[in-house]
Amino acid sequence: MLECQNGNQAVVEETSLLMIFVTFNLSIIALFALPSLCQPNILVTCLHFSATMPLSTQSQADEEQYVFVASLDNARNLSNILKAITFKDHAIFSATPNGLKVTVEDSKCLQANAFIQADIFQEFTIREDLVGFQVNLTVLLDCLNIFGGSTVPGVSTALRMCYKGYGYPLTLFLEEGGVVTVCKINTQEPEEPIDFEFCSSNVTNKVILQSESLKEPFSELDMTSEVLQITMSPSQPYFRLSTFGNSGNAHYDYPKDSDMVELFKCTKTQTNRYKMSLLKPSTKALALSCKVSVRTDSRGFLSLQYLVRNDDGQICFVEYYCCPDEEVE
Ligand SMILES: *[C@@H]1O[C@H](CO)[C@@H](O)[C@H](O)[C@H]1NC(C)=O
Ligand SMILES: *[C@@H]1O[C@H](CO)[C@@H](O)[C@H](O)[C@H]1NC(C)=O
Ligand SMILES: *[C@@H]1O[C@H](CO)[C@@H](O)[C@H](O)[C@H]1NC(C)=O
Repeated sequence: MLECQNGNQAVVEETSLLMIFVTFNLSIIALFALPSLCQPNILVTCLHFSATMPLSTQSQADEEQYVFVASLDNARNLSNILKAITFKDHAIFSATPNGLKVTVEDSKCLQANAFIQADIFQEFTIREDLVGFQVNLTVLLDCLNIFGGSTVPGVSTALRMCYKGYGYPLTLFLEEGGVVTVCKINTQEPEEPIDFEFCSSNVTNKVILQSESLKEPFSELDMTSEVLQITMSPSQPYFRLSTFGNSGNAHYDYPKDSDMVELFKCTKTQTNRYKMSLLKPSTKALALSCKVSVRTDSRGFLSLQYLVRNDDGQICFVEYYCCPDEEVE
C-alpha cells in the first residue's frame, strides 16, 4: 500500500527535498491566502519529513483511537469526485460501513451528494454505525493536492484519512515519493442536510443516457441563458434541453430510440426550468461519468445521477437535486 521506494538513496533525498520545497511553497501561499489562521475551521498544516517510514507503520495504539480510517493508494480518486461537488465550502461527511457520502448544498435549492463505496478504499474502518462531521471542502481539496497532483505515470499520492470523533480534526496523511505531509483540518458538527423528499414513487419522468451524448450540448450550452429548460414527454420532443440566451433560443432533442438513450420512461409531459447557475457545477460530474439518469418528480424537482466508473470497474455516484425555477406550460 503505502510503501517507500528502497531505491537509490541520493535520488530519494533529492526528490524529498524537492517535495518539501513544493510543500512549503504551497503552505506559504496558503498562509497568504488565509490571513486569519487562528479562526476555527481553518487548516492547520504540519509538515513531516519521513523518507523511511511508510504511513502504514503507525502504532496500533494510535489506530485504536480513531472512529474512522480510510486509505486510498491514489488520492486523486477521491479528489476528482469531490471536485465535482465543490460549489460551496461546507461539506457534510457521513461515513457508514457501506462507504462515504459527502453532501454540499447551495441556497436550499441545490444539493449534491457524492457516494464513494467502502470497497473503493484499500482500507475502510469505522467503529460506529454512522460517523458524521463537516469540513471546509476547499481546504480538504488543497490538502489532497498538496503535492501538486502529479500527472507522471506511476507517481501518485497515497492517502490515509483518520478521524477521532467529535471535536477532533480530520487528519490526512499524504505520502508521495517518500515524503509524508500531515494535514489537520478542523471539523464542525454536521448540519442536517436538506431533505428534498425526492422519492422514486413520485417520479414522473426518467431518462437514462450515456453521458457522452450530454457532454457536447453541455459544453455548448449558452451560459448567457439564465435557465436551462428541460422537457420530458412520452411523445415528441421526448427529451429536450432548451436555452434562451443573448444569441437566441437553442434546443437539443434526444429521440427516445437513440442509441444514447438507455432507458426512457416518461409518463407525462413536463417542462421545467432550472437556474443555469445551479446546474453548472454538475457539469464537472458529467465530465467524469459514463451514464446519467435524469428524473423529475410530480413537483418538477430534478434529480441528476451520474455514474462514475473507474478503470477497475468500481462505481461511484454523484447525485444532484435541484428545485425548479418556475413552471412553464
Ligand atoms: C474555506 O477555506 C477557504 C480557503 O482556505 C476560505 O477562503 C473560505 O473562507 C473557507 N470557507 C468557510 C466557509 O470557512
Ligand atoms: C408523492 O405523491 C403523493 C401522492 O400523489 C403525495 O401525497 C405526496 O405528497 C408526494 N410527495 C412528495 C414529496 O411530493
Ligand atoms: C484510481 O485512479 C486511477 C487513475 O485515474 C485509476 O487507474 C484507478 O482505477 C483508480 N483506482 C481506484 C481503486 O479507484
